Amino acid sequence: MTQPTALATGPRPATSGTATVGTPARADAVPALRVRDLRKTYDNKVEALKGVSLDVAEGDFFALLGPNGAGKSTLIGIVSSLVNLSDGAVEIFGTDLQRRRDQAMRLIGLVPQEINFNMFEKPLDILVNYAGFYGVPREQALARAEEELKRAQLWDKADKMSRTLSGGMKRRLMIARAMMTRPRLLILDEPTAGVDIEIRRGMWKTLREINAAGTTIILTTHYLEEAESLCRNLAIIDQGRIVQQGPMKALLAMLDVEGFLLDIDGTLPAALPYIEGAALAAADDHTLDLEMPRAMDLNRVFAALGEAGIRVRSMRTKSNRLEELFVRMIAQPSAAGSAA
Ligand SMILES: Nc1ncnc2c1ncn2[C@@H]1O[C@H](COP(=O)(O)OP(=O)(O)OP(=O)(O)O)[C@@H](O)[C@H]1O
Ligand SMILES: [Mg+2]
Repeated sequence: MTQPTALATGPRPATSGTATVGTPARADAVPALRVRDLRKTYDNKVEALKGVSLDVAEGDFFALLGPNGAGKSTLIGIVSSLVNLSDGAVEIFGTDLQRRRDQAMRLIGLVPQEINFNMFEKPLDILVNYAGFYGVPREQALARAEEELKRAQLWDKADKMSRTLSGGMKRRLMIARAMMTRPRLLILDEPTAGVDIEIRRGMWKTLREINAAGTTIILTTHYLEEAESLCRNLAIIDQGRIVQQGPMKALLAMLDVEGFLLDIDGTLPAALPYIEGAALAAADDHTLDLEMPRAMDLNRVFAALGEAGIRVRSMRTKSNRLEELFVRMIAQPSAAGSAA
């Protein structure tokens, strides 16, 4: 168990314990993905990645979080060889992507952000043809396709036209297809975007099973809830830079403060009561801005306000967790550079 500590910014130093006697050294374990000082400038001069370094350990379930345009798909595109890098290095299980591309690619399964199979093909054919393209013999491909379609709960759709599948089914088919080559590293770019929560949960279950069976998983998502539920480690990327990375637990520990806006009856007194552990400020004459630890009892706050003659009419949370996360993580590093 690691202690929840503040997340390190930038490349994480090797944290191998010098004190652990008798346990195999993990420091020299080859990571599933190693990215070093990765840069990408597109033809239109957009600098999508400005020096990204990242390690994902074998067996990890890793989330790449970030707002629109942060560079997530660019990073995934480079790792899966769809996009050429401008500078830097990528290794997949120790295999250099630039020098031994084919060998590196054989280790990866990709579920891209956009659905990209032929809508006029049947799921079974999509899977078998895909495996064939990667050199899997047909007999073996058929057996795998059955296994994957069953896992994706699509076996009864194996011979239906793909365009008749629901959105959630299409997403599951994308995962099944990526698994046909038995990748050691599965990369998913927003696999659950636009999928309702029930179906999303079903996909989480599938992904957990895949990970438990030994496949390293990296996914990008906008949903913190998704990352929180699935992933052990994460990196937050913004404007082409990693702004935070570390264990999920450490990140959540940083989010342990909640913010509320309290609408009050009448006008606020000049002096606000002191409430130990909480921060109280007047947002305007009729609104209180409250920040308090998540574990703190709200009744204590209400009691103190009541004693000071302040009656709360209604309250709302200042932001949701995802917004809170992005605002905090992303505002900090660039705060010196821009006022907005
Ligand atoms: N093919 C391209 N040509 C030019 N610019 C591009 C190209 N692809 C992406 N970009 C730009 O690079 C930046 C990063 O885009 P990217 O798609 O990697 O972000 P993202 O984090 O995946 O965003 P989203 O959450 O919206 O999918 C953006 O400014 C984007 O406009
Ligand atoms: Mg993207």
